[in-house]
Amino acid sequence: MTGTGDALVDVLISPAGEDLLARIAEATAAGTGPLPLQSALRRDHPADLVRLALRVAEARRAATAKFPDAGRLLFTPELLEQATAHPVARHRARRFADCGPVLDLGCGAGGDLTRLAGAGLPVAGLERDPLAAALARANLLRLGLDGRVADGEYPGADLPPHEALFADPARREPGRGPAGAQRRYDPRRFSPSPRELHPLLVGSRAWAVKWGPGLDLDHETLTAPGAILAGLTPAQYAVEVVGWQGTVREAVLWGGQDLRRDGTAPGAPRLATVLDGGLADARASTYAGEPIASPPPLSEPAAFLAEPDGTLLRSGLLDAFAREHGLAALAAGIAYLTAPACFASPWLRWWRRLESLPWSPERLQAALDRRDAGSVVIKKRGFPLMPEQVRAGLKLRGSRELTVLLHRADDGRSARGGYTAHLAEPCPPPAP
Ligand SMILES: C[S@@+](CC[C@H](N)C(=O)[O-])C[C@H]1O[C@@H](n2cnc3c(N)ncnc32)[C@H](O)[C@@H]1O
Repeated sequence: MTGTGDALVDVLISPAGEDLLARIAEATAAGTGPLPLQSALRRDHPADLVRLALRVAEARRAATAKFPDAGRLLFTPELLEQATAHPVARHRARRFADCGPVLDLGCGAGGDLTRLAGAGLPVAGLERDPLAAALARANLLRLGLDGRVADGEYPGADLPPHEALFADPARREPGRGPAGAQRRYDPRRFSPSPRELHPLLVGSRAWAVKWGPGLDLDHETLTAPGAILAGLTPAQYAVEVVGWQGTVREAVLWGGQDLRRDGTAPGAPRLATVLDGGLADARASTYAGEPIASPPPLSEPAAFLAEPDGTLLRSGLLDAFAREHGLAALAAGIAYLTAPACFASPWLRWWRRLESLPWSPERLQAALDRRDAGSVVIKKRGFPLMPEQVRAGLKLRGSRELTVLLHRADDGRSARGGYTAHLAEPCPPPAP
């Protein structure tokens, strides 16, 4: 098909379209407002092309935070928002190596699709939004990558031939709860829905479904009747939680017999992956394990304190990781760890502990004065005040930057009670 989406996108990727995008970029950089710019452009170009070009130019500016090749890609702001950032998409694409032709079901404007193709995989996309499909085709073309994108909605549309499957379902916005609290996304309302995707997964040699990191990841929920992995055993799938730049980006459900045997193999059902580095050169480290270990032992604070990466917490692997690495917990259910020595790990951020005290604003102030604190980074877990509230009560008169870690002191059995404050300084661990 070549509908309106294709026709406009064809103009946009022609030399004339590139000139138009360059003119918008220049005028925006020079501070021209959107309305005068739109009027000026409409003197030379049709209104629908100008509208699309303005949205693509806006997305291109924002895309530099997600894609190292943003200058060559075409998104709208909405499609960019949904697109997987390059380091995360490239990491996923590498896991699909040698799995045969991959179908990206609901490929949007091709964030993932172009990274899959860029990893050398034969790719095909299916997309129900004609503009998104046209942009995905254009993005493959502009990057010199092979692959085709079909317009259509699944179920119903013919699926391009494939052996492996990737799906990043569209999430309907959750509503607001009675108290104004944000409700969680409900996977049953995803598109394609879990019931629609399930038969495709079990029929594929390798498959991955991008899943919200905030969704319930426990086995019972994922494999319940009608759920995305209905009826699968733990040995038939893996859950990977991926983080980049200190933030958990996504959870991914993986399965199929052909996956690379580097942790996504059945039998290692949880993976915590940290992508370390910049947009273009992030490197993946994956910790694989079972989310069933018992909590690490509790301990008085030792010489070093550590905060685990969010991927360990979301994947349920923190206990296994802490036990394997000889780390103790400072309090029951509190994700601050302690050890007599620090070591390099992509999953840990370390501090050298200076002193620990029972929390009170007066005691903390006195300790900060004694240690010449001039600025503080305040972190907290299981502590009732926000860091800004704690900071507002402090007077910092010294010259050093210190970190204050605050947490509930409860050991889970008896009431040590109260809260603990640790004064610490960042400690880059020795290189591995
Ligand atoms: C989250 S976006 C995909 C983003 C993509 N992974 C990327 O990195 O750019 C989901 C896409 O699936 C498409 N979609 C949703 N349901 C679909 C269906 N039943 N059939 C085909 N496409 C669908 C939506 O139009 C949307 O573009």
